[in-house]
Amino acid sequence: MVAQRVLAIEISGIRKMFEGAPPSAINLGLGEPDFDPPQVAVEALCTAVRTGQNHYGPSAGLPELREAVAERYRDRLADTSREHVIITASGSEALMAVALALYDPGDEVLVPDPGFVLYGPHARIAGATPVPYPLVESAEWAPDLDRLESLVTPKTRAIVVNSPSNPTGAVLSARAVERIVEFADRHDLYIVSDEAYEQIVYDGPATSFWGRGDRVVVVNTFSKTLAMTGWRLGFLLAAPPLAIAINKIHYHILACPPTPTQIAVIAGLEKGGPALRSMLREFRARRDLVVRELGRIRGVSFVVPRGAFYVFPKFHWKGTGLEVATALLGRGVISTPGDAFGSLGASHLRFSFAASRAHLRQGLACFKDVAEAMRR
Ligand SMILES: Cc1ncc(COP(=O)(O)O)c(C=O)c1O
Repeated sequence: MVAQRVLAIEISGIRKMFEGAPPSAINLGLGEPDFDPPQVAVEALCTAVRTGQNHYGPSAGLPELREAVAERYRDRLADTSREHVIITASGSEALMAVALALYDPGDEVLVPDPGFVLYGPHARIAGATPVPYPLVESAEWAPDLDRLESLVTPKTRAIVVNSPSNPTGAVLSARAVERIVEFADRHDLYIVSDEAYEQIVYDGPATSFWGRGDRVVVVNTFSKTLAMTGWRLGFLLAAPPLAIAINKIHYHILACPPTPTQIAVIAGLEKGGPALRSMLREFRARRDLVVRELGRIRGVSFVVPRGAFYVFPKFHWKGTGLEVATALLGRGVISTPGDAFGSLGASHLRFSFAASRAHLRQGLACFKDVAEAMRR
């Protein structure tokens, strides 16, 4: 018999959609950029492997990479140093290490609904209870602060936030960030801020939680900005005492992050700016296309995504997300049912725009057909 914690979690429903899909399907389900990493990073990776940089390194990451990350955050907290930074084997690993370092069995952790699929299971693996807090669609998916207050108990340990958001594409306003910080301070909570899509924004910068006190942990990843999801490299920032605690867990999960990919990322951060800007230009054009096409579909409403590469439309007819996604799959289009992201994702679908403009047009034309058929 396996441990209880295994029974307490499930594999995310997202992948289930892919299994029945024909190879020629139009894939609007992807959670990763459909681009290659910057060429400089690819070259640096090959060189690192060929020149013998294939060994263990420091558990918190290569000092040069920690320094490069710290430098990027100094505009938000002037004394950010490499001691604040831990390089992880992805944002996912960072989130797991943070959960194990911060949550005790019996704790409660506020997690966004709808929200990214790892926060709840990670809390459970740590023995804590995830408590979903509602995001309000009519408020551009900002949290309802009154509801948040009502969910706090003496056991509440932390609040997880995610802006820009997967799955909604929403970006928290500076004011909303301020209010969440005040809320967390009032109740002595940790803030775990997942900023994986921080640099993928369309209508102005996203406000980071970094620099908002000693109880903030920022999780980030190179997966999306450098289009290198398969390389598995991310990072986190925390005040040094907290960073030391998290690093203990990180060490016992991983020993150290992979050396060659860290070297490649250093090159990517130094010289990958043009590749990132061109990816962002394309994502913005696709975001605009998606907004235009979805706007033409009757029975569907949506909040314009301001970041990440997802749109999260709501359908106003009877039926589940799974039924709509299955109807789309029958027409060769992969999407993700919204309830994979929490109960408030019901009656929604997530479309990723990590797909060509032609595929987006075709996929959304199929959605229009499905909408017309299902509304009858
Ligand atoms: C919101 C969010 N956080 C974290 C991650 C983890 O990314 P990775 O494990 O590739 O760093 C993802 C990936 O989809 C994500 O969407």
